[in-house]
Amino acid sequence: MKQTSKKRALITGITGQDGSYLAEFLASKGYAVFGMIRRASNDPLVRVSDLVRSKKVTILYGNLRDIGSIDRVIVETCPDEIYNLAAQSDVGISFKCPEETTEVNYYGVGRLVNAAMKANPKVRIYQASTSEMFGKTKPPQNERSPFAPVSPYGEAKLKAHQDFVVRYRDAHGLFICSGILFNHESPLRGEHFVTRKITLSMARIRLGLQESFELGNLDAKRDWGYAKDYVEMMWLMLQQNKPQDFVIATGESHTVRVFFLEAANALGMHVSFKGQGLKEVAVDEDTGRIILRINKNFYRPLEVDYLLGDSAKARRALGWKPKTKFTDLVKIMADADLNQVRRKLT
Ligand code: NAP
Ligand code: GDD
Repeated sequence: MKQTSKKRALITGITGQDGSYLAEFLASKGYAVFGMIRRASNDPLVRVSDLVRSKKVTILYGNLRDIGSIDRVIVETCPDEIYNLAAQSDVGISFKCPEETTEVNYYGVGRLVNAAMKANPKVRIYQASTSEMFGKTKPPQNERSPFAPVSPYGEAKLKAHQDFVVRYRDAHGLFICSGILFNHESPLRGEHFVTRKITLSMARIRLGLQESFELGNLDAKRDWGYAKDYVEMMWLMLQQNKPQDFVIATGESHTVRVFFLEAANALGMHVSFKGQGLKEVAVDEDTGRIILRINKNFYRPLEVDYLLGDSAKARRALGWKPKTKFTDLVKIMADADLNQVRRKLT
C-alpha cells in the first residue's frame, strides 16, 4: 500500500552500472526508490551499498524469469514509474546463452509490463533498448533507421521493443518508452565490457601487476558516452506528455584500437602496434614489452561493425547534450582504475 506522497520508482537491474547511477539520480530528485535484485552467491549490492545503508533505496528480491516474484514486487512497491534495466546485457555471451538471453530480455520484459499494467494502467515504464538493435544498419542511426540485429541479444531486445513497447503503447495506451541508448561507460562498467577491460588491465600493467592482456576485434567502432550523463534522459523520457522512443548517443564514434591508445595516453604510457591480423600486438615503448595480444576467442561469431548515433530528436525534445567528451570519459575510467588498483596495493 502507498504510505507517502513521494513519487515511487521501481528499478530492475539496480545492481548494474546504469541501475546504480539511476538510483542515485532518482533519490536526489526525492523519489522513493525500490530496487529489484536477484539472488546471488556473493554480495550483489557493491555498487549501491551506500544508498541501501542510508535507506535511500529499498531492495526487494525478484527475477525477470519468475512471474510470481515480479507480481509480488509490483504489489509491494506500487510504482508510479518503472525503469526496466535488468537484462543479460553481454552481447558476446548472448551467442553462447541465447535461451537465457531471450528468456530475460524478451519474455522477462513481457512478464514485467503485463504485471505492471494489470496493477496500474497509468504506470509509466522505461525500457532499456539498445543500439545493438541497429546491427548492420549503416550509420548514422536514429529513430527512423531500419533495425537489423545480428546477435541473440540484439534480436531479443528488438522483439521486446516491438511487442511490448510499440504494440502496447498503440493497443493499450500504455505509457511506455524505449530509450535506444548507444554504448555508455563509466568506472562502474562491468569488467568484461571492452572499455573497462582495457582501463583495468592497463592500470594493472602500468603498476607492474600484470604483464599483458588479450582482446578480439580492434576495428569495431562504437559511439561511447558517459553512463552518468545518460540516466537523466531515462527519467526525462518518463516526464514527457506523450510516451516516445529516443536515441541517446554522442554522435562520435571511435574504434576499440583508439580507445586502447587513448587509455595508454591517459595513463602516461607510450604504445605502438606491430604485426597484422591475429598476430598483431601492442608494445609498451618504454619497456619494450608486449602488453596486448589478439585472441580469436574474443571475436564474435557476427559483429556489429559501426555504431554512430544521431540523437537530434532528443536534442530537440529533451534538450539532450552529452556533457562528457570521449577523451575525458577514457581519462575518468583510467584514473578510477589506477586509483582502485593502487588502493588494493596498500
Ligand atoms: P549491467 O551492468 O550488466 O546490469 C544488468 C542488470 O540486470 C544487473 O543488475 C543484473 O543483476 C540484472 N539482471 C540480469 N538478469 C536478471 C534477471 N533474470 N532478473 C533480474 N535482474 C537481472 O547492464 P548496464 O550496462 O547497467 O545496462 C542496463 C540496461 O541497459 C540493460 O538492459 C542493457 O541491456 C541496456 N543497455 C546498456 C547499454 C550500455 O552501454 N551500458 C546500452 C544500451 C542498452 P546481477 O547483478 O544479479 O547480474
Ligand atoms: N567485451 C569485449 N571483450 N569486447 C571486445 C573485446 C573483448 O575482449 N575485444 C574486442 N571487443 C569488441 C567487441 O567485438 C565489440 O565490437 C566492441 O568491442 C564492444 O564490445 P562490448 O564492450 O562488449 O560492448 P557491446 O557494444 O557489444 O555491447 C554493449 O553496448 C550495447 C549498446 O550498443 C553492451 O552494454 C550492451 O548491453 C549494449 O546494449
